[in-house]
Amino acid sequence: MKASRSVFVCQDCGVQSPKWLGRCECGAWNSFVEERAADTPTAGGGANRYAPLGAGSARLYADVGVADAARLSTGIDEFDRVLGGGFVPGSLVLLGGEPGIGKSTLLLQAAAHFARDRGPVLYASGEESEHQIKSRGDRLGVGDAPLYLLAETCIERILEEMARLKPALVIIDSVQTVFSMKFQSAPGSVGQVREAATQFLFAAKGQNIPTVLVGHVTKDGSLAGPKVLEHVVDTVLSFEGERHHAHRIVRAVKNRFGAVSELGVFEMTGTGLVAVLNPSQLFLAERSSETPGSAVLCCVEGSRPILVEVQALVSTSTYGNARRMAIGVDQNRVALLLAVMEKRAGLSLAGDDVYVNVAGGMSIEEPAVDLSVVAAIASSVRNRSLPASTAVFGEVGLSGEIRGIPQAALRVREAAQMGFSRVVMPVANVDGLEMAGCELVGVRTVGDALDQLMG
Ligand code: TYD
Ligand code: MG
Repeated sequence: MKASRSVFVCQDCGVQSPKWLGRCECGAWNSFVEERAADTPTAGGGANRYAPLGAGSARLYADVGVADAARLSTGIDEFDRVLGGGFVPGSLVLLGGEPGIGKSTLLLQAAAHFARDRGPVLYASGEESEHQIKSRGDRLGVGDAPLYLLAETCIERILEEMARLKPALVIIDSVQTVFSMKFQSAPGSVGQVREAATQFLFAAKGQNIPTVLVGHVTKDGSLAGPKVLEHVVDTVLSFEGERHHAHRIVRAVKNRFGAVSELGVFEMTGTGLVAVLNPSQLFLAERSSETPGSAVLCCVEGSRPILVEVQALVSTSTYGNARRMAIGVDQNRVALLLAVMEKRAGLSLAGDDVYVNVAGGMSIEEPAVDLSVVAAIASSVRNRSLPASTAVFGEVGLSGEIRGIPQAALRVREAAQMGFSRVVMPVANVDGLEMAGCELVGVRTVGDALDQLMG
C-alpha cells in the first residue's frame, strides 16, 4: 500500500514544507502543522471540475454575449448596497468579522428574507445547534420562511444536502468549522479551509447557487486561514464595529461584481440588526461642539458621504518622550501631520502627548481626513473650540499645502443636509461648486485653514 503523502503547512501563510520547521519564512514561529493529503487530491480533479456556461473552447471576445448580472436582493437594503445590488447567482461570498459581532445574526436575517422571496435557503452551521439557531431566529422574526437548518461540519454531507434541496442560497457558518473527509487535519487548518473554499466554489458555480462563507478573523483583524481564501471567493465582506457600541459596519473589501469600500451601516438591537438610514446623524449624535479638539469631517466611503467627528487631545508630556496615539486614522499619517504643523504652521508640539480618535469606531483611510486631524489638534492646543456649524475635509501635503480630493460635491451636499452652514475645504475643489445655505471656504495652506477655522 502506498503511504499517504504528508506535508507540513504554515498556518499563517500556507507555505508547505516536506519537514517540520520551527520558524516559517513568513516570520511565524511554531506555525507548521502536519497535513496528510488523501491519495487522490481533490482540487482540480476531474470529478470536481465545474464548467461555467460555454466553457471548454476559447471564444472570440465579440461573440461573447453580455450576461446581465441578475441581482438577487437579500431583502436588506444596506446589505444589498455592499454586495453591489444583491447576490450574483453562483457567486461565492466571504463574510469576515470578529466573534460576536453579528455575522450569524445578519445572515440569518438575510436568509429569512431570501427564503420568503426566492425559495429555500440552506443554513449549515458548525457552530450552533438547530435549537440555538431557532431560538435566535424566533427573536429575529424568521417565522415560516422555507429556511433549512443543518448542524453539520462535514463538507461532503453539506454538499449532499445542497444537491438534494437545490436551495436558492447556501450559508456556511463558518468555513473554519467545516472539514473534508479527504483530509486528516483538524477543521480550521489551512488545508481544510482551502479545501472547503474550493469545494464550495465548485458547488456554487456548478449549480449556480450563491453561497456565503462566514470567516473568522485573527487578533490583528485579518481573515484567519490562508490568503488563498480571499483569492478564491468573488466577494470579501468585512463586518466591523466596536463590540461595546451598538452600530456595525459591513464593508466590501473585494468585489468582482461591484464597487469596493461600499458601506452598510447597522445598529444591533434586541430584535437583530436594523439598517441605519442616516449614518451621519449616528456618528455625530454624541458630539459636544463646545469642547476644544473636535472637528467634523465629511468623508466618503464608496459612494456614500458620511460625517464623522475627529477628536484630538493634546496634553503636556510628563515623561521625557511624548506619546502619539491614533485610533481610526493611520498613526504614521498623524506623525506626518504633526511635523507639518510644527514646520509650516508654527505650532510647538514637541513636548506634548497627542491622541487622535475617530468617534464611534469608524476607521478612515482616505487622505481627506488630514485637514480634520490638523484642525482638531490645533483646536486642542489652543484650547479653543471650532465653530459648531463648520465641517472640513482636505488632504495636507508636506509643504503645508491643502490638496484637492475627489467627490467634493458629494461631501458638501451631505454637510449642507446635516445643517452645516460652512465648509472649509481645498481651494481646488471650490471652483464651480455652489451650495445653497452653505458657505464654501477654499483654503490653500494649513495656516490659511487654521485662520479660517479659529480666526
Ligand atoms: P452573532 O451573530 O452570534 O455573532 P457572530 O456570528 O459574528 O459571532 O451575534 C451575537 C451578538 O449579537 C451577541 O452578543 C448578542 C447580540 N444580539 C443582539 O444584541 N440582538 C439580537 O437580536 C441578536 C440575535 C444578537
Ligand atoms: Mg456566529
